[in-house]
Amino acid sequence: MRLRHIEGAAEFVASNEQVILEQDALAMSGHWQQLFANESPLHLEIGMGRGRFLMASAAAYPQINFIGLELCEEVIMQALQRYQELPPNIRILWLNAKMLDQVFAKGEVERIYLNFPDPWPKNRHAKRRLTWDDYLHKYQHILDDEGTLRFKTDNPQLFDWSVARFADNGWEPVALSHDLPLEESGIISEYETRYRRYGQPICCGEWKKGRK
Ligand SMILES: C[S@@+](CC[C@H](N)C(=O)[O-])C[C@H]1O[C@@H](n2cnc3c(N)ncnc32)[C@H](O)[C@@H]1O
Repeated sequence: MRLRHIEGAAEFVASNEQVILEQDALAMSGHWQQLFANESPLHLEIGMGRGRFLMASAAAYPQINFIGLELCEEVIMQALQRYQELPPNIRILWLNAKMLDQVFAKGEVERIYLNFPDPWPKNRHAKRRLTWDDYLHKYQHILDDEGTLRFKTDNPQLFDWSVARFADNGWEPVALSHDLPLEESGIISEYETRYRRYGQPICCGEWKKGRK
């Protein structure tokens, strides 16, 4: 999702009390449940965009705490303007996914969602893909022993490349599909809604945490 610079977006996002900023997040490692004042499991969406998936998931599963991670302040601003009141089981984390292993303790997260991450199609940009080994190692660190990750994309090349990355890093596939039917897709994100409208097949994979 590419958005033009919006004057004041950073200030808007930083002043919203439902958004966790990097410096605060660094102090939260190992203590995220305290923020929600309960012991519910933590689910993390990486690259939440404008928050459609996060909001619908939090409403459907009030017994789960959801954190939406997003790098781009303009996108977070749009999510906050769209939804205004977030339910108590959501927080937005304004952060680069590179820092995940600094803000979550080992095993602190039960499930990760990667919905339609940027494909970075050029080979020389492969390390920017959110399914590159360095990211998989961070996900492995923060997931608990039974932790799972679900990845969806409309891009079959990115999907096949990612399936190989997960395999090489010892992740155990639970389900892999190059054309996931809508009825099996569960809650869908903004990008998934758009691609399904265009009739594009949706690739989806789910893995158990890597053992390497
Ligand atoms: C293509 S959009 C998909 C949005 C949403 N997940 C959906 O499916 O509708 C990808 C999102 O990931 C965010 N993103 C990309 N790289 C990121 C990173 N390293 N850390 C956090 N967010 C990132 C982008 O800013 C963008 O909002």
